[in-house]
Amino acid sequence: MTDTQEPLSIIVAGASGDLAVKKIFPALFALYCQGRFPEKFHIAGFARTDMSSATFREHLAGPNLVCRYGPCDHCSGKQEAFLKHISYVSSPYDSPEGMRKVNLALLGEGGMDGQENRIYYLSVPPFLFLQVTQTLAAAGFLARGGSGWDRVVVEKPFGNDRASSDELTQGLGQFFEEDQTYRIDHYLGKEVIQNLMVLRFANLIFDPIWDRAYIDHVDISWMEDLGLEGRAGYFDRYGIIRDVMQNHLLQMVALIAMEQPVSMDSKYVRDEKVKVLRSIPPLALDDIVVGQYTAGEMKGKRYPGYLEEHGVPEGSIADTYAAAVLHVRNRRWDGVPFRLRAGKGLNARMTEIRIHFRSVPGNIFDGAAAMQPNELTIRVQPDAAIAFRIMNKVPGLQIDLGESFLDLNYASAFNAKIPDAYECLLLDVIEGDRALFIRSDELEAAWDIFTPVLHELERQRIKPEPYVFGSSGPEKAKQLAARYGASWSAQ
Ligand SMILES: NC(=O)c1ccc[n+]([C@@H]2O[C@H](COP(=O)([O-])OP(=O)(O)OC[C@H]3O[C@@H](n4cnc5c(N)ncnc54)[C@H](OP(=O)(O)O)[C@@H]3O)[C@@H](O)[C@H]2O)c1
Repeated sequence: MTDTQEPLSIIVAGASGDLAVKKIFPALFALYCQGRFPEKFHIAGFARTDMSSATFREHLAGPNLVCRYGPCDHCSGKQEAFLKHISYVSSPYDSPEGMRKVNLALLGEGGMDGQENRIYYLSVPPFLFLQVTQTLAAAGFLARGGSGWDRVVVEKPFGNDRASSDELTQGLGQFFEEDQTYRIDHYLGKEVIQNLMVLRFANLIFDPIWDRAYIDHVDISWMEDLGLEGRAGYFDRYGIIRDVMQNHLLQMVALIAMEQPVSMDSKYVRDEKVKVLRSIPPLALDDIVVGQYTAGEMKGKRYPGYLEEHGVPEGSIADTYAAAVLHVRNRRWDGVPFRLRAGKGLNARMTEIRIHFRSVPGNIFDGAAAMQPNELTIRVQPDAAIAFRIMNKVPGLQIDLGESFLDLNYASAFNAKIPDAYECLLLDVIEGDRALFIRSDELEAAWDIFTPVLHELERQRIKPEPYVFGSSGPEKAKQLAARYGASWSAQ
């Protein structure tokens, strides 16, 4: 871990954007409120939008910058103190002169000496990652000499298939070593996802039953009851498989299926994730269903179909829904389907993992009630929770069985604020802990699973199955689930 008391500069490219304003700066503020910054730090935002530092600070202040960790009456004071550490430079992304102004801001307003540690956060659309990095290099940022370290943070999507991802890795690799590169999949920073390894490896009871002998299938679902929300330009280029399944859902598969690492050291954690991802053969076209929502009505409101949304090209075959079945070909998991589904415009907003155990053999309660197999639910959102379904005697004079839940709801169980994923991840970048970031070989393994099927869908121009906005998804997804033994878990 790095000494976090050394002076630190954070340079945010794309500071005018949605992610920076809604996630990055609020997370940095939360860390500030918890005393996680060195005494001497400065944050320089830059983007093309023309505004002064004062206007940028005004733009940041407000409902997004809420002091969650301090008494509310100190909030405005904390905000004011934090904002003093922020400056803004307006510059095109390919201008070394503009970038030098960022350096001047760090030296001037920030009071730095050029020797401090630096984090470069590339919060820009992916096609700009390399351009911004080249401009940083041309402006002399990346060859400073001296003792301060440089780290770069990049957001997914990392490419749109194996080849483009490799190209991006190689491009960034000309300027940053792998151990300086922090690829964010913000799901890994979520409290419940971080708990997966604790649940598995800090409790004895799960280990003996965590395999093909006891587990029938695993369902991982990501559902959103929204449409594009103005993000057609981005979404139509990527679709749901690249936006959610290849990264967030696959990371959950890895954490559920991996072996125990040697230690929590980032190298060992990521080694195990890569190993299990490498045990998953490329997804077969037969094992995937893609869908696209059509107009529908939910709670009395009409929602347009995908093709009617503003900015969507005519006849687009972008997938707004995908259901897929992955197979982990190793001793622990062979024969256990990992069924993934992700979709927009559905009838619920939730992300959860459900581990379905096998039925009890030799049921001695025949006739008492239908026996439900045990099921472990790990809910990421909307309400973080872990629930375990057990069969129980219904209190009474005779033996009647009913299902009951051992329920750990985070909101009621823990009297603590649950940090936002970006708070955890940014603190890890500052401290130099890479366990929750995607290593390049992990990225390669993830793309190897999805690239062939993505190319096949595109080559054959396979039309997504229509489903009505506000429904549970296309009929064919239900058929896919049935082929693997059971309907999708209810929400
Ligand atoms: N928003 C999210 O919740 C989210 C979640 C996961 C990952 N990400 C990733 O995080 C990064 C930033 O996300 P974001 O939502 O903040 O993106 P964004 O708002 O589309 O872009 C960020 C900034 O980049 C500049 N920009 C946008 N399009 C540009 C273009 N065509 N040419 C030049 N500059 C352009 C804009 O600033 P100027 O015009 O001022 O230069 C914009 O404010 C992206 O890589 C995205 O994929 C975002």
